[in-house]
Amino acid sequence: MPIDFDQIIDRTTSSSLKYDFRKVYFGTEDVIPLWVADMDFATPEAVTHALQQRASHPIYGYTLYPESLFTVMQDWFKNRHNWSIERNSILMCPGVVPSMHAAIEALSKPDDIVIVQPPIYQPFFSAVTETGRKLVENPLKLEQGEYYVDFEHLEQCAASGAKLLLLCSPHNPVGRVWQRDELEGILDIARRYQMTIISDEIHADLIYPTYKHIPLATLTDDVSIVTAVSPSKTFNIAGLGLSCLIVNDRQHRKLIQKVFDSGHISASNPFSITAFEAAYRGGEMWLDELMVYLDETRKKVIELIELNPPEITIVDSQGTYLLWLDCRAMGLTDEELKQFFIYKAKVGLNPGISYGKAGSGFMRMNIAAPRKTVLEACQRIIRAYVDGHG
Ligand SMILES: Cc1ncc(COP(=O)(O)O)c(C=O)c1O
Repeated sequence: MPIDFDQIIDRTTSSSLKYDFRKVYFGTEDVIPLWVADMDFATPEAVTHALQQRASHPIYGYTLYPESLFTVMQDWFKNRHNWSIERNSILMCPGVVPSMHAAIEALSKPDDIVIVQPPIYQPFFSAVTETGRKLVENPLKLEQGEYYVDFEHLEQCAASGAKLLLLCSPHNPVGRVWQRDELEGILDIARRYQMTIISDEIHADLIYPTYKHIPLATLTDDVSIVTAVSPSKTFNIAGLGLSCLIVNDRQHRKLIQKVFDSGHISASNPFSITAFEAAYRGGEMWLDELMVYLDETRKKVIELIELNPPEITIVDSQGTYLLWLDCRAMGLTDEELKQFFIYKAKVGLNPGISYGKAGSGFMRMNIAAPRKTVLEACQRIIRAYVDGHG
C-alpha cells in the first residue's frame, strides 16, 4: 500500500511545538505553521508498531543501547551512503545540538576560535557563544541563486588560529548538498591548519534526485572529523531525541566521552532506542516514497511562488525539506517581512534573520506537510502579495 502523505493529522492535541507554540512564536495562532523542522506526516509504521510493542511491556526502567542498534545503524550508513562506520567510533547522545556542545567543550578551550557558515541553523551560533568560544563567521556566497563556500575567506579564518569548523551538510537553511570538490576543499584547509571539523549531517537522508550526500568522514583519514547523524529528521522522530556522533580520532573520542560522562548526557530512554532501531531497520521504503512526495511539493511550490510574486524567488533546495525564500526584492525590513507573512499572508515561516545577518530579507519554509496545506500557504502568500499591490 502506498503511504498516504496527503493525510491531514491534527497535531494540536499533541503538545506539538510547531502548532501549540504558534501564539508565543508568531503572536497569533492564525497561521499555517511551516516553520520548525519536523514533519506533519505519520512516522513509518515500522516505528509506531515497534513503539506500541515496547509500550506494552510495562516496565520503562534504565535501558542499555543494545548491540543490534549499532549494527542496524552501521548497515544503514553502509547501504545508503557507502560509509563503513567502525563500531567503536560511535558515541550515543540524546540530540545533535547537545552533542555539538559537548564536542566543542571537549575539543577546544574558552576563547578558541570556532568558525560557522551563515546563514545557519541558529544553535550553531549559540553552541559557540554559550561555551565561551570565539565565534568567527565565514558567510556563504550567494551567486546566481546558489550558495557556495567562500574558500578564500575560510582559509583566512583558519589561518587566524581557528580550532574548529562547524559544517552543516546538507545545509540548513539553504538546502545545499555539498559536492565532493567542495568537501575536499574544506578538508584541504582543515588539514593544513590542523582544524577539527564538526560535521552536522542530520539531514543526510533527505536528498532530492540527481544529488548525492557524501559523508565528510569518507573522504579523509587524516583530518579529525566529528560527524553528527540521527534518524530524527529522516523518520520524523525528533521528539524522541537520540543521535550519534561518529568520531574518527581516538583521542578526540575519549575527550568527548569524558564530557558526556561528566554531564550524564549519554543516557537515553527505551522509546528512543526502540524508534531509532526500528526506523533504520524498517523505514527505507517509507523514506524513498517520502522523497518522491517532497520533491513534487518542492517543484509545485517553486512554480507557484515564482510565477506570481516576482519579488520572491526560491533558492532551489538540493536536500532537506526546507525552502529558502529570497524576499529581498520586496524591499521590506526584516520586521516588515515578518509582519507581512504573519498578518497579511497568515503563514508561519522562520524569519531568515534568525539564521544570522546573512539571512536578512529571506524566509525559511518547511514543506514537510500534506501538499494541500503547503499549496494553500503558497496561495495565501500570493493573495497577500497581490492585495498589497492591488
Ligand atoms: C542542522 C540541524 N542540526 C541539529 C538539529 C536538531 O537536532 P537535535 O534535535 O537532535 O538536537 C536540527 C533541527 O532542525 C538541524 O536542522
